[in-house]
Amino acid sequence: MPAPPLRLETLTGAALRPLFPALAGLRIAVFAEWPYLYAGDAASEEEYLTAYAQGDGAAAVIAFDGETPVGMATCQPMAETHAEVRSAFLKRGLDPARFCYFGESVLLREYRGRGAGVGFFAAREAHARALGLAATCFCAVVRNANDPRKPKDYVPLDAFWRKRGYTPRPDLSCVFRWREPGDDRETPHSLGFWLKDPL
Ligand SMILES: CC(C)(COP(=O)(O)OP(=O)(O)OC[C@H]1O[C@@H](n2cnc3c(N)ncnc32)[C@H](O)[C@@H]1OP(=O)(O)O)[C@@H](O)C(=O)NCCC(=O)NCCS
Repeated sequence: MPAPPLRLETLTGAALRPLFPALAGLRIAVFAEWPYLYAGDAASEEEYLTAYAQGDGAAAVIAFDGETPVGMATCQPMAETHAEVRSAFLKRGLDPARFCYFGESVLLREYRGRGAGVGFFAAREAHARALGLAATCFCAVVRNANDPRKPKDYVPLDAFWRKRGYTPRPDLSCVFRWREPGDDRETPHSLGFWLKDPL
C-alpha cells in the first residue's frame, strides 16, 4: 500500500518557536549531506530560525508525520532577507521588492517521493501570492561536477525544479559562508538562482 501523504502546515511567527529544536535538527541532518556539506550548530540554527519567526512576511511550511516534523521549507519577501541576495538582484536590474525568496526545502530521506517537495512549492507560492508578490526564486549551491565527494547515486534536483516552473539564471549568484565537516572555519560557497517570474 502506498505511504499516505504527509500533513503540511504553513506556520508563521510565534507558532514556529516550539518547533525550533526539531527544525534545527532537520536542517543539520539534511544539509550535512551532499551537495551542501554544512556542519551546522545549534546556536547559529537558533539565530537563523529566529529571523523567520520574527519576519513580518516570513512563513515556514512544515511536513509532519503525526506530530513530528520531518521536513520544512521557508519563504519570505526578498525585502526582508539577506543583503547579499538583494544586491545580486539589484546588480542585474531586478527589483527585490517583486520577489518572494524561498530559503530552503529539507525533508528526511525516508519521507521523499511522497509529494511533500511539490507541496512545499505549492504552499510557498500560495504564501507569495497572498503577500501580493509577483515572482518567486530560490538559490542552490553550485558544485564542481567532478567533485570527488559527490555520491555516485546522487540525482540532481534540476529536473524537479524545472518541472515546478523554475528557470536557472547563471548570471545571478551570491556567496554564503558556512563550515564544512572537518574544517575549522567557514569557507565561501557560491549559490546560483532559479526564478519563476512571473509567478
Ligand atoms: C527537495 C526535496 C524536499 C524534495 O522532496 P520530495 O518530497 O522527495 O519531492 P516530491 O515527492 O514532492 O517530488 C519528487 C517527485 O515525486 C513525485 N511525486 C509526487 N507525489 C508523489 C507521491 N505521492 N508518490 C510518489 N511520487 C510522488 C513528484 O511529482 C516528483 O516528480 P516530478 O518532479 O517528476 O513531478 C528533497 O529531495 C530534499 O530534502 N532534498 C535534500 C535537500 C535539498 O537539496 N534541498 C533543496 C535545496 S534547499
